[in-house]
Amino acid sequence: MDQTKTPYFQALLDYVDAGVLPFHTPGHVQGNGMDASFREFVGDNVCAIDLTPMPGLDDLLQPTEAVREAQELAALAYGADRTFFLINGSTSGNQCMMMTAVNPGDKIAVPRNSHKSMLGGLVMSGAHPIYMQPEVDEELHMDHCVTPATVARTIEEHPDLVAVYVVTPTYYGVAADIAEIVRIAHDAGKLVLVDEAWGPHFHFHPELPLSATAAGADLVINSTHKMLSAFSQCAMLHQKGDRVRIDRLQTVIKMFLSTSPNLPMVASLDVARKQMATEGERMLSETLALARRARERINRIEGLYSFGEELKGRPGVFDVDPTKLVVTVRGLGYTGYEVSELLRRRYNIQVELADLFNVVALFTIGTTPQASERFVDALEEISKDERPVDMFAPSGILEQRLNRGSFRLPKTPPMRMLPREAFLADTEFVPFRKSKGRICAETIAPYPPGIPVVAPGEEITEQIIKYLHLELKAGVRIQGPYDDELRVVRVVRE
Ligand SMILES: Cc1ncc(COP(=O)(O)O)c(C=O)c1O
Repeated sequence: MDQTKTPYFQALLDYVDAGVLPFHTPGHVQGNGMDASFREFVGDNVCAIDLTPMPGLDDLLQPTEAVREAQELAALAYGADRTFFLINGSTSGNQCMMMTAVNPGDKIAVPRNSHKSMLGGLVMSGAHPIYMQPEVDEELHMDHCVTPATVARTIEEHPDLVAVYVVTPTYYGVAADIAEIVRIAHDAGKLVLVDEAWGPHFHFHPELPLSATAAGADLVINSTHKMLSAFSQCAMLHQKGDRVRIDRLQTVIKMFLSTSPNLPMVASLDVARKQMATEGERMLSETLALARRARERINRIEGLYSFGEELKGRPGVFDVDPTKLVVTVRGLGYTGYEVSELLRRRYNIQVELADLFNVVALFTIGTTPQASERFVDALEEISKDERPVDMFAPSGILEQRLNRGSFRLPKTPPMRMLPREAFLADTEFVPFRKSKGRICAETIAPYPPGIPVVAPGEEITEQIIKYLHLELKAGVRIQGPYDDELRVVRVVRE
């Protein structure tokens, strides 16, 4: 197949060129009925290709022509047997993987530091999660991946597991030993599902961690919009081998797709694939070089540290994606949240993520050398600030709390019901601070990174209440619960 072709983008262009008189959705009719200021800003061309499945434009739900060809090209490019384009992100990818692989009551091993959309998949599928503890890095204050040893032990303890689900890389760009995990799970007859939302570029450069499709995982999701050039919400689900029921997978994907997909988004997936298949290695080489130079400069600035290759070999760190620039700012006496705010307010720079110790900047094929310079220059200036208060002074409140471990993610609480049972149970709201011992009916995940501290069906512990209050005080947004300020929480009625 010819990877320079973009069959789906071409189908849209052909439809526009044919000058078809449209009496179909969308109602803006190629921009004619659209608010003028919006149309002027987004441009006529985007409006012209915002069409709907029609003869010649194929159907994302039942592809037979251009969509099919575009997906086949993507599968080939990623070394998968089949690839499906998704227009609701890896969020829907996680849900599709679960709904395909597991039935109500089936056991599935999942890392605790999974994205909250994995929990959506558990609620929908009714599966029974067996949580695997990721490796915790106290120094950098982050969770890394689960190790092959953890996967092997979980399989040994739960021989009736149906599937193993792993997240690699993490939000911070740390990758698991995915080849070994796949080997262990497949040897034991378990399916392997991989949330590779943050690694859609891995397959296209030898210096990047091994991709999950190359490692032979059964189902893999990629957020093509995160690290590559597709529009937001665009993702791909790859399938490989003969362990997964294809008819079930196809049915599930149809359930999760709109019958009116945004076609510019679909085309952007097609084009992002072409870009990687034909120029990926060259483009990513430039990105890697840019990230390397920025990291070297940052590591020469006193008080800052950006990890790289040297992290490999730490528990849960098999490989590292250098395009994620994780800058540990603790040495400046600032929290990551403060540096993120300074970057935005003083320098008009927005990072992807901030936490207590770190800010994370994404370096992608869209990052320019000028942007990189501005980012590092800003960090250098911030490092020269006179700090009236060192947030991490030995006598300070943060340091005391860190030493007491009160910022450490609380232990996974006991699961008293399956996530789906708790979600569907009769529930009531109670004050969060008085909810100790109750069974939570919602997901509570500080965001970013969106890792659930408590999931539906789990007991709310004292440690969880304290931890979440600290996160709220530190200004962290809480996602998942009905009341995101956590004055009340939804629990199972007793
Ligand atoms: C590990 C992981 N999986 C899945 C998702 C959801 O991806 P999307 O935003 O493409 O729906 C995210 C989002 O940040 C994520 O970090």
